[in-house]
Amino acid sequence: MPLQDRPEQFLSLLRSESASGYVSGQALAKKAAISRSAVWKQITRLRRYGYTIESLHGAGYRLTGETDSPVPWELEKALGTSFVGSKIVYREALDSTQNLAMSIAGKPDSHGTVVIAEQQKSGRGRIKRKWLSPKGGIWLSVVLHPSIPPARITLLPFVAALAVCEAIRESTKLDARLKWPNDVMVSGKKVAGILLDISAEAEQVNYAVIGIGLNANVDSSAIVSRLENDKITSVKDELEHETSRLVLTRLLLQKLEQYYLKLERDGAPGILQKWKQRSDMLGRKVSVTQGDRTIHGIAADLNDDGSLLIKAEDKEITITSGDIHVRY
Ligand code: BTN
Repeated sequence: MPLQDRPEQFLSLLRSESASGYVSGQALAKKAAISRSAVWKQITRLRRYGYTIESLHGAGYRLTGETDSPVPWELEKALGTSFVGSKIVYREALDSTQNLAMSIAGKPDSHGTVVIAEQQKSGRGRIKRKWLSPKGGIWLSVVLHPSIPPARITLLPFVAALAVCEAIRESTKLDARLKWPNDVMVSGKKVAGILLDISAEAEQVNYAVIGIGLNANVDSSAIVSRLENDKITSVKDELEHETSRLVLTRLLLQKLEQYYLKLERDGAPGILQKWKQRSDMLGRKVSVTQGDRTIHGIAADLNDDGSLLIKAEDKEITITSGDIHVRY
């Protein structure tokens, strides 16, 4: 969103005028040095962004409610990160935040850029699946120029899943858990997923884009047709009320930076240890589907690269991808 399109100036005028009651369209037009119809457009836009603005015939407008949407000018307030979200690209609709993020990820100054959309028309999931992304979810992608060794890149989705899990736990008190490889679950149902796209050469990773899809304030019934084994849920369905996507997104970005820096600084063990602590699948019977074949066994441990060690009848198998079904 170009800077001149951002509504902060008009918003802060409306906010300060609303403190003492209604303000007329005429007064707003005069103070903002714009036309009456431009005032109307600004009001309409702010309402679309989730602000509550009451209007009273003969009195004018009054801002009575702040937004819960992860709009960049609110998200940036108190974000406190050093690079994640240093630039935020926000769109009301996109084909996929992942595609837009990938198209800018080659730029040298894009490290930490976050792309957010209110809805996606062609959201992408893992294993070339569609990711239904109606309004109300948190659909975002983060560009990274990782300074970690290429061998550790497979850990980036673990970092992201951990960040989402912790953000949900902290802001909603729901008992969010992790399921290999990168799913976040609540009550045994999938609430969020992670997608990693990278551009790499033999010895070096040029850039990585982490996509996060979090079913925040969506009805699970609107997203059930995703071709997954897991049952799907949303934060709203679990809480039985809506949550602030703004607060949840801010926390998620803060935690993403925190865990990314931890991976950079301390390497894999700390991240994997924390991941294991938040997962309840190790030690359980699982079946893994890889194309036509299904492997049954016990989910024994995570290897240093994040791959899953399964103890089958007489052998140990390492799984690097696939869909896993856990028997609780
Ligand atoms: C999964 O299959 O579990 C991963 C889903 C990832 C979806 C997110 S939504 C934001 C970003 N943009 C996309 O097109 N996909 C990812």
